[in-house]
Amino acid sequence: MSRPLVIAVDGPAAAGKGTLAKALAAKLGLPYLDTGLLYRAVARRMVNADLDPAGDASAQAQALQPEDLARTDLRVPEIDRGASLVAAQPAVRAALLDRQRVFATQTGAVVDGRDIGTVVFPDADVKFFITASPRTRALRRHHQVHGEAPLVEADLEAAVAEIVARDSRDSSRDTAPLVQAADAVLIETDDLSAEQVLEKACEEVLRRQVRS
Ligand code: DC
Repeated sequence: MSRPLVIAVDGPAAAGKGTLAKALAAKLGLPYLDTGLLYRAVARRMVNADLDPAGDASAQAQALQPEDLARTDLRVPEIDRGASLVAAQPAVRAALLDRQRVFATQTGAVVDGRDIGTVVFPDADVKFFITASPRTRALRRHHQVHGEAPLVEADLEAAVAEIVARDSRDSSRDTAPLVQAADAVLIETDDLSAEQVLEKACEEVLRRQVRS
């Protein structure tokens, strides 16, 4: 029997990865794995234990429990920052690698993250790299958090600076940095709706399946 389908969706924060990966998983009847949540949950464990997320987080990564991923306080600014600090630690990444592989190899999955196509599933059946300008991503993040509330220019600039800083931490770390896999399909989402991104991705999946 052939191995179940694994689709990697990588890219920077708020580029539309999660939206695409979730929709693609629903469409293909595959489980969806948001790997960012693993790093967020490790950061949350550090903060709750009064530990600095910049310090050694490997024990918290090893101790991670399924219920840690169901917490509702994982998408707050303190944890945005903490997750990128724990994600830069090789021992944390090593502790989380098998969990990601086990999850997806049994059933197949659409997996979203930063290093899925390069490190976690270098042999994924289809790889996408989803990106958008920092300004587009800052605006999207704002609307995700605050709905339709307007964003003043100074706040937008601060949000762009925060996104650029996080990209730089995620892209410049030594272990599993955020880079586009050589065989990933690039989708720039600035001028595309979520439906258009899904359509492009589905066309690509179909093309690969027809070819294989
Ligand atoms: O996708 P997200 O914003 O929830 O990710 C949170 C942090 O975890 C972010 O700083 C990048 C990091 N991350 C990573 O290094 N590798 C992954 N596979 C997923 C997320």
